[in-house]
Amino acid sequence: MSDILIEVEKLYKRYRDGVVVGPITLRTPRGVIYGLVGPNGSGKTTTIRCMLGLQRPSSGTIRIADLDPTSQAKELMRITGYSQELPSFPPFLTARDILKITGKLKGFSGEELRREVSRVLDLSGLVSHADRSVGGYSKGMLQRLAVAQAVMGDPEILILDEPMLGVDPAARVQIREILLELKRSGKTILFSSHELYELERVADVVGMIYQGRVMVEGWVRELLSNNTQGMVVEAEVLRPSLVPSSTIKSIEGVQSLELDGSRIRVQFAEGVDGRERLAEELVKLGAGLVGLRIVNRTLEDLFMEMVRRGANL
Ligand SMILES: Nc1ncnc2c1ncn2[C@@H]1O[C@H](COP(=O)(O)OP(=O)(O)O)[C@@H](O)[C@H]1O
Ligand SMILES: [Mg+2]
Repeated sequence: MSDILIEVEKLYKRYRDGVVVGPITLRTPRGVIYGLVGPNGSGKTTTIRCMLGLQRPSSGTIRIADLDPTSQAKELMRITGYSQELPSFPPFLTARDILKITGKLKGFSGEELRREVSRVLDLSGLVSHADRSVGGYSKGMLQRLAVAQAVMGDPEILILDEPMLGVDPAARVQIREILLELKRSGKTILFSSHELYELERVADVVGMIYQGRVMVEGWVRELLSNNTQGMVVEAEVLRPSLVPSSTIKSIEGVQSLELDGSRIRVQFAEGVDGRERLAEELVKLGAGLVGLRIVNRTLEDLFMEMVRRGANL
């Protein structure tokens, strides 16, 4: 079987009111955490629902472990666990009740069911809350319960739609740990998020969706490397008012510039180390240069570049 477990090729979904999601092309290698990121309304849920056969694409192809979600939904369900965006549960049931029901639907019974429920409760860190009704659960606990549901039956692939939506920072860390634990046990996980910071810390591969299309896809490590994408340098000056942006922009290799109070953030083109030229220019301007350093790029930088480029498409 191929090393690409989830493959979406030129997926389009056209809604009745003229909204078009697509083209979405993405590839999720086996054994990674794949983060599908984009602002609200960019097409993440549509893509995920099409992947699971819950929605029919208008065109394009999807293969998950070589299965076609529209015609092989049943087989797909056996190897895939899914948690929907903003999961909701009957508030009077306990987590254990809910997981038992899910387990039965997935074909478990008796002792095997009991063991599987306790395994997923343990994995999701909900053991001590298992017999409380979920009406009293926090959003983070509900999300963890949804993940626990998805991992019942130990599927090879997990598809989680915004598992960190609406949860507080501590719960986000817990969910991140769960995703990492699942990866360690050999699962392939695709999750969506509109929070770049959180995603950057857990995803191996990222696909960025903007206005219905995947604009950038790649290994986070490579996307953030200064070697492949050009260096980002931050200079600190005492007199920023003496620095005209046109002067900095005219330095060879400068691609973009951000002025933020006393900080000047410059993005150079690939392969250009413009630190010396930038320092010379700032000294010449009498700006009071007090610091200069290479800064690590973030997915947010990349996202903003993508938005800027997108605007010119
Ligand atoms: N059932 C639907 N009918 C019409 N438009 C829809 C439907 N579902 C989603 N959309 C539209 O498709 C676009 C993408 O939505 P969605 O996939 O939910 O994005 P995301 O999950 O990234 O927030 C939005 O413009 C949304 O309004
Ligand atoms: Mg969504």
